[in-house]
Amino acid sequence: MSISDDPGRALPTVVVIGTGGTIAGRAASAHDLVGYTAGQVGVAELLAGLGGAEEGPVDVEQVAQINSKDMDLPVWQRLCERVAHHLGRPEVAGLVITHGTDTLEETAFLLQCLIRPAKPVVLTCAMRPATALAPDGPQNLGDALRLARHPGAQGVLVACAGRVHGAAEVSKVHTYRLDAFDSGDAGPVAQIENGQVRCWRPWPGQGFDAVPDGRKRLQAFLALDGLPRVELLYSHACADGEIVRALLAQSVSAGGRLQGLVVAGTGNGTLHHRLEDALAEALAAGVRVVRATRCAQGQVIPLTEDRLEPSRGLSPVKARLALMLDLIGH
Ligand code: SIN
Repeated sequence: MSISDDPGRALPTVVVIGTGGTIAGRAASAHDLVGYTAGQVGVAELLAGLGGAEEGPVDVEQVAQINSKDMDLPVWQRLCERVAHHLGRPEVAGLVITHGTDTLEETAFLLQCLIRPAKPVVLTCAMRPATALAPDGPQNLGDALRLARHPGAQGVLVACAGRVHGAAEVSKVHTYRLDAFDSGDAGPVAQIENGQVRCWRPWPGQGFDAVPDGRKRLQAFLALDGLPRVELLYSHACADGEIVRALLAQSVSAGGRLQGLVVAGTGNGTLHHRLEDALAEALAAGVRVVRATRCAQGQVIPLTEDRLEPSRGLSPVKARLALMLDLIGH
């Protein structure tokens, strides 16, 4: 659906795809900032709330209407398919995706790995529902629209609270603060000040067709009827590894479905020795094991003679996605 008239057609189009989240959330009271239902307000209505402030034509598509904690493979597949479709339209400068904050970094990373867009694909969100007295969604959405038309911008980006993050580095780091995202050591890619984009470092992304077999790999992802089973564990004081053995036993009884484990270790990915013993059993059973870190910042630096694969700069949830994509041949 297009919400703009012909006079603007000389300017490039931005496509805004709605998936739900707090940005589309509704509460019974304008003062309630936590007791709301996410994914209620349609993306066309969110855009209408900007009062026509967007410059140029905007096409709108509602791909899902969910709380992003419930993100699943069918929604990801639908989203990837629509993103690839709209990126292929020559008149489209860039895309904006409205998304819940809770799994936004996973969707951003997935899109970057699968599509690596040469145009900007900007995920945006809100920490307050659309019905709040002072919602943050309209400002974030307006910033995202500007960024999607910004000359030279490319790759999967996240626009929130005036900062622009890259998909590989961004993580949600706060449960309540409006500026809930951070890019750790790398820092944000850019910031948006009164509608102007100030760039700090090169844009991510390299172009769909620059990736060997990029289109074929996307088609393979779209055809999946399930993701490889990769579980995420923590190392912690008194860990005994029994969770790993239970997973292995369950996997054997279910026909060997467990394919990978990502363990969020302490510090530089170190593990309680009992958990490490259990993970060695998983390795011996043919399960891939990736060592990530519980630390919010810093990367896991490989050790010599490391039996486990280091996640390097990826957070545990992104290391899990990377391992799943690797297991399906990406
Ligand atoms: C969600 O992730 O859909 C709900 C939480 C949020 O958007 O902040």
